[in-house]
Formats: sequence, C-alpha cells, structure tokens
Amino acid sequence: MASGDPTPDSVVLWTRVSVAASDTVAVEWTVATDPALADPVAGGSVDASPAADHTVHVVVAGLRPSTTYWYGFRAGGDRSPIGRTRTLPSPDGPVERLRLGVVCCSHYATGYFNAYARLAERDVDLVVHLGDYIYEAEAKHERWTRLHRPRGRCLTLPDYRARHAQYKTDPDLQALHARHPMVAVWDDHELAGNAWWDGAAGHVPLTDGDWPRRRAAAVRAYREWMPSGLPDPADPYRIWRTVRLGPLADLVLLDTRLKGRERPAAGRRPVLGVHRRDRALLDPAQWEWLEEVLAPVAMSAAGSGGGPPGSDGGAPGVPGTGAVGRPWAVVASQVVMAPIHLLAAGGAVGRRLGAVGGGLVVNPGQWDGYPDERERLLRLLAARGGPALVLSGDLHSSWVSQLALDGGRGAPVAADFTVPAVSAPTFARALAPKVPGARSALERAIRRSNRHVAWVETAAHGYLLLDVTADRVEGQWWHVDRVGRRTEVEHLAATWSVRRDDPHPLPGP
Ligand SMILES: [Fe+2]
Repeated sequence: MASGDPTPDSVVLWTRVSVAASDTVAVEWTVATDPALADPVAGGSVDASPAADHTVHVVVAGLRPSTTYWYGFRAGGDRSPIGRTRTLPSPDGPVERLRLGVVCCSHYATGYFNAYARLAERDVDLVVHLGDYIYEAEAKHERWTRLHRPRGRCLTLPDYRARHAQYKTDPDLQALHARHPMVAVWDDHELAGNAWWDGAAGHVPLTDGDWPRRRAAAVRAYREWMPSGLPDPADPYRIWRTVRLGPLADLVLLDTRLKGRERPAAGRRPVLGVHRRDRALLDPAQWEWLEEVLAPVAMSAAGSGGGPPGSDGGAPGVPGTGAVGRPWAVVASQVVMAPIHLLAAGGAVGRRLGAVGGGLVVNPGQWDGYPDERERLLRLLAARGGPALVLSGDLHSSWVSQLALDGGRGAPVAADFTVPAVSAPTFARALAPKVPGARSALERAIRRSNRHVAWVETAAHGYLLLDVTADRVEGQWWHVDRVGRRTEVEHLAATWSVRRDDPHPLPGP
C-alpha cells in the first residue's frame, strides 16, 4: 500500500490484492484523521481486477491542506496495514517550511534499501523519487546481494509486473510508502538500460523483440504498480508535471529519459568535434509547458491569475522587485544537468571511461550530450527571475554543482543537487580501480577538471533531505553505512544551501 501525488485537497491511494489470477474483488478503502481509522472522513469501494494486475488506485478528494491522514483497505475478510499520508499546503499558505526526501536508483538485487528505511523515519512532507525505482536487469551477477525475480531481464508485461511485485515486498520500501506520500518519475531502468523514445542500449531487437511493445509493457506495469496519478489521462507516456508546494516552491518534474529523448551519442567520446550539440532531450509539448511554468514574473502576472500571492506583487519588468515573492522553481531532472568533464586519465580509470586520445570525456546520456537544450532550459530559469534549484540523480553518487549560462562560462543560474543511489552500484565502484586511494584520486580529478563542482562523493549510498523556506533551500546528504546487509547506521555527509538572492551553493546550513 502506498500514497502519492498529493495536492492541497487530494491524494492518490494505492494497493494491490493477492488473489487468484482470474478473480475480481471489491476493495473497501477508508481515510481518517487518526491512526486507528476511528474518525473516517472519506471511504468507498473499488474493484481490483485482472486487467490492472489487481492493483487499485483511488483519488481521494475533498481533503484539507497541510493535513496528515491515515488510510487502510479491506478485501474479503482481510485488512491491510494502516498507512499515513499528508496533503500539500494551500497555494495561499501560510507555510513556513516544507521538507522533502529525495531518492533514486533503488536496485533490489545489488543491496538493501537502508536509505528508504532511514527516510521513512524522517519527518518529511513528501518523498520525491527521481527514477530507477526498479531495475529491469537479470539476476545473474554472483556478487549481488539478493536475487531478482523473474531471473531474466524484464521483456514482457508479466515480467515487469512480477518485478514490480517483488520490489513491493521489500520491508523498507513498504515502510517508506506506509509513512510518506511519494511523487515519482521514471528513469531508464523502469524500461531498459539507457532508454530513449525509439530504443535502448539495453534492448536488442533481434533477441528482445519489438521495442514499442516492450516500452508499452514497462509503462503499463509502472502505471499499475506506482501510487501516481496520470497527468494526462489520454497519454500514459506523459510524466512531466508541476507539483505546487504551497506558496514556497513549484516542483517541476521533467521527463529527460523517454518521451522526447533522441538517441544519445554512442560511447564516451571526446566533446570537441564529435558530439552534435542540438540533440533533443525534451519533446515539444514539454517545452511548451516549461515555457509556461517558468514564465518570467511579468508574463505570469498577466496570465491566468492562478499564481500564489506574492508571485506578481512586484513591479513588472523591474529586475529585483518583481521576483521578491516568487516561489522557488525546483526542477527535478532524472539525469545530471551540470557539465561533468573528465580529463582522459591514463591507466585503469582512463580505460574504464573509454577515453580517447587525451581529449575530454563526458557521459553523453546526461545533459552533457544535449548541450543546446541545457542552455535553453537555463536561459528559461535565468529569465524567470525567481530563485531556482535543480535536483538530479542517475549517477549513483553525491554532487553539488553550479549551473551557469554559456556552457558554464556565463552568469550562474542555479545549483544542481545530485542525490546518491539508494542501493545501485556506486560511481566509484564503476570507475575507480580497486586499489587503495583510487576513489579519492578519482574525486580529486573530478574537482580539478570541473571548477564548478563544489562537492562530490562517489562511493556512498543514501538520500537527500531538502528543507525549503522562502529565503533558502538547505540540502542534507545522508549516507548509509552499507547496503550489503540491513543496517540502521547513517551519517550526515554534507550540508549545502542556496539563498534566494544568490544562485551559488554555499557549504553549511
Ligand atoms: Fe540508476
């Protein structure tokens, strides 16, 4: 059971019933203001049918803003455990602060979800999952901690359903869902490794079959098994959407993985001369929406009038006054937005990076492979005139970077906070040779060739706690001790803040 996509007056409740494959059963649901469900405020009945793999979504409306609720389900004679959820603040406020937990890359087979367990204990309003909620991979790796079911790679609808079902049996994931509402977007591994709209590096048509069919199966299972609503009921592939965090922030969730993504450049090639700069990462409809969501202050004041108080309180067109009450734009991107260039190192690191002949190497699957579109987005943020922050994942490591115009050489626009993996193999494990000192050498090399990277840690798993107020956003990177077994040990690895009038990330609260 789980809850997700809260608004000031609604939330999506989710559960799944284990019954005979052909049965349809009625599921009763109750929402209450107390943990014993003694004081119900809403309830009803909905069918769990084979067509949706016996998953159930209920959109509960008519709730009060900034309020904690409890919910439960009954089917046949069985009762579910009781879950807790929370609505978001009203756009009119007042609200002083919001706390978010941000996670990504939870690989069941390569480790335990200790980060989920620790985040479940935190007092947060919302959990944001940046994708790789499941991994479609096979279970063959002898060093993996747990075995995936099914054993092979997910290719069909029954495969993806079974994989989602396995993840939902994890007690730490269950604890997280039972405690906090989640807003989730997919990355590639909900479908296939390094996916784009027309294919995936992890999909070989000759042996794996038709890609659009596999893509549709993966997305259908995702829709069935995630506690999310459909931003556009006519389009199951649309995940980009805005979540308004009261008057404080707009959480702008992108799809940088599937809908508009053009095939990335192959391999990690030198930047100069080989990469095309104008590859598409977002589809045209997503750009249209972004231009509206990130419209400058004056434009938004002239628009629908639906903005929060203070959003249009200043003098239109006068820099520094119109933006005073503007909410934060917190842009959630699956893949890292900050440029990351590594000087081609010799030896094992260089070989692992696939560096060619002393040039710069990049990961073409990140925004680095789509530089014109990155510039377009940063220009939107700069023109918007309010404070901004980017959240990213996918890199299985922790980063704080400065985003700036003109390929990083121009005016600073926002910070990029990159969250570590919950349990997928770390960046250091992929790139640093297994010799003493290799990891710190890797991190020193990164810092040397990327002056805009303020902090990087490549070997730990964990989660990000985000504390949002009108004046600043503070990020705390909490790293767990290990993922090879369940543990309660975690530590605060770093704290970085961004103030509303200064886009530079600063160490400390
Ligand atoms: Fe990942």
